[in-house]
Amino acid sequence: AIDIRNLRSQSGLITFDPGLGNTGSCQSDITFIEGDLGILRYRGIPLEQFQDNPNFVEVALALIFGELPNQEQYAQFSASLTKNANLDEDMKHHFAGFPRSAPPMAVLSAMISTLSCFHPEFLELEDETQFARAAARLISKVRTLAAYAYRRSLGLPYNYPDPSLPYVSNFLHMMFSEPYKQYSMEEEVLTALNLILILHADHEQNCSTSTVRMVGSSGANLFASCAAGVSALWGPLHGGANMAVIDMLEAIHQGNMTPEAYVALAKDKDSSVKLMGFGHRVYRNFDPRATILRDVCEKLLNKLGINDPLLEIAKKLEEIALSDSYFIERKLYPNVDFYSGIILRAIGIPTSMFTVIFAIGRLPGWIAHWYEQHSQNDGKIWRPRQVYTGLNEGRFIPRSERG
Ligand code: ACO
Repeated sequence: AIDIRNLRSQSGLITFDPGLGNTGSCQSDITFIEGDLGILRYRGIPLEQFQDNPNFVEVALALIFGELPNQEQYAQFSASLTKNANLDEDMKHHFAGFPRSAPPMAVLSAMISTLSCFHPEFLELEDETQFARAAARLISKVRTLAAYAYRRSLGLPYNYPDPSLPYVSNFLHMMFSEPYKQYSMEEEVLTALNLILILHADHEQNCSTSTVRMVGSSGANLFASCAAGVSALWGPLHGGANMAVIDMLEAIHQGNMTPEAYVALAKDKDSSVKLMGFGHRVYRNFDPRATILRDVCEKLLNKLGINDPLLEIAKKLEEIALSDSYFIERKLYPNVDFYSGIILRAIGIPTSMFTVIFAIGRLPGWIAHWYEQHSQNDGKIWRPRQVYTGLNEGRFIPRSERG
């Protein structure tokens, strides 16, 4: 038999990088991260500069098209978002097929895929104008899909988008307006939600964005590629962590465990427990998004007069972990998910929708990366190699002889 170990040496050098932590998969102009210094920039603009008057739509445009929009570009794109906010009536029938208990991330992924069926004109993009139309349609409709997924889960009818409202307010309107208005349009709420979306908008080659680029590398269309991104984001080690953080804080609050005992369990290698919302592949100092959100969280809760015991528990966990050698040596700090959930709760967003909010925020990043890859036009399909560790050569044994 041929010894496959010799064959391996003939197939050229393969780098072995589990988790791809040291592999550069592409060249990109979109987002810069320096994890040791806690730097995050979108198109060269430091994240902190988006804090005053945050506007998610203009950040989305900067990520997708390379620079902040001028007045006319902004007005045009906003008009396009308004025009595309509604769903095709036939699309709504699809919602009826999901059980009420369907996880909203499953519904979102499926419904984004469904956009490929209802908008076939965007399956082959001819130029940037057509791409811009596809991007506007996707960004606009994803918010409607998310809101309707939530309403279906409660058995409530669709709330039609209100063309007079800007992007974020319109989302709150579609989620909560009927049968009774249960949300605040206070400036602080809109600012916090805009900021949350902005802070999630891109993060270079994270798991979901790499998935979008992987799927896009085969030539798959924008909708199909972004639907795959939603699936990747769903996992608890990625976007799903924002829900897991609240579950963790709730469990502590309900008296199942003290913060000290939880941290001890998270350090115990025999337990499968982690301190959720802590640690990051790239940030080994602090996550600048978490620093901003901690501040926003305190201010928003104060402004709304909410005394959420989960905030105190989160701060206690942070205090314990940041003075514990386990976390210090491993350079584990709060990440974007640690405080975002407490803000979303204060706004009235249910925990089941947290990862969906992350997806709405990350969508411009996915679109920007999909388009950058599409435009780079090197035509290369992504196809990593592996290090085979199986049998050298097996033998097919007929079933009758297998006992
Ligand atoms: N709690 C306890 N221990 C942890 C944690 C944590 N949250 N995070 C990492 N560690 C430990 C690991 O067990 C490992 O210990 P070891 O060296 O003794 O084996 C060490 O720290 C290094 O961790 P890795 O898992 O190798 O780090 P990696 O870069 O692969 O993973 C990740 C990063 C997935 C974010 C991890 O820190 C984690 O699981 N955190 C909790 C989940 C979470 O908050 N995810 C959201 C990430 S941000 C985002 O996607 C938006």
